[in-house]
Amino acid sequence: MARRKKIYEGKAKTLFEGPEPGTLVQYFKDDATAFNAEKRDVIDGKGVLNNRLSEFFMTGLANIGVPTHFIKRLNMREQLIKSVEIVPLEVIVRNFAAGSFSKRMGVEEGTPMPRPIVEFSYKDDALGDPMVPEEYIIAFGWASQQDLDDIISLALRVNDYLSGVLYGVGIKLVDFKIEIGRIYEGDFPRLIVADEISPDSCRLWDIETGRKLDKDVFRQDLGDLADAYTEVAKRLGVMPSNV
Ligand code: C5P
Repeated sequence: MARRKKIYEGKAKTLFEGPEPGTLVQYFKDDATAFNAEKRDVIDGKGVLNNRLSEFFMTGLANIGVPTHFIKRLNMREQLIKSVEIVPLEVIVRNFAAGSFSKRMGVEEGTPMPRPIVEFSYKDDALGDPMVPEEYIIAFGWASQQDLDDIISLALRVNDYLSGVLYGVGIKLVDFKIEIGRIYEGDFPRLIVADEISPDSCRLWDIETGRKLDKDVFRQDLGDLADAYTEVAKRLGVMPSNV
C-alpha cells in the first residue's frame, strides 16, 4: 500500500499529509527522549497512551471553548489534526517549582509558585531550546505583542482546565508545556493549541504519595514509564484496550 507523504518527523511524533487540504495525520511513536535526545529508549505502548491522553485533554479544552488543532482520533496511534504554522516557542506554565526552574533559581522541587508562571523557550534543538524573554519574541518577530497576550491567556486557560481535571483524579499538575499554532481560517489568523498534551509534556505528581507519573520517570530512571502513563489514563477513564 502506498504510504502517505511524510511531512515532518520529530522525536516522539511523525506528521503525515492528511486526507483533506489543511489537515495532517499525527502519529505517536513509542520513542522516548530526554536531555535534548542525549538519552533515548523505546517504551512499548507509550505512543498509544499519549494519543489517547492528548485526545482526552484536547477534546476537554474544545468543550470549554479553547481552540485546538485536534479533529478526531483515527486509530490507536494516529489522530487527524488541523495543519498550523507553529509559533517557534515552547510555552511553559509552572504551578510548583521543578525541573529547570528549580535548578536555575535554587528553589526546592514542589515549592508552590505565588501564582502560575508563564515562560517561553525558543524551539531550537541545536541550541537546546533556550529560555527567552518576551522582548526577544517581539523583536525577532516570532509573535506580536497581541499574539503574546493571546498566548498567555490561552496558556492560563489550559492550566485552569488541566489542573482541575487532574486534581479531580488525585493528580497535581506541577507544570506543563504547550505549543501554539497559527491557523488561517476566515479573515484573520487565529492562535490555537497544537502539538500534544500528554505526560511527555507535563509534570504530574500523585497528590497523596508524591509519585511521579510523567516523563521524569524516564529522565530520572524512577521505574517503568508505561506504568506511570497507564496510571494517568486509568484514573481519567481513558485506558486504551490493548496496550
Ligand atoms: O525542564 P523544564 O522544567 O523547563 O520543563 C517544564 C515543563 O515543560 C515540563 O513539564 C516538561 O516536561 C515540559 N517540557 C517539554 N518539552 C521540552 C521542555 C520542557 O515538554 N522540550
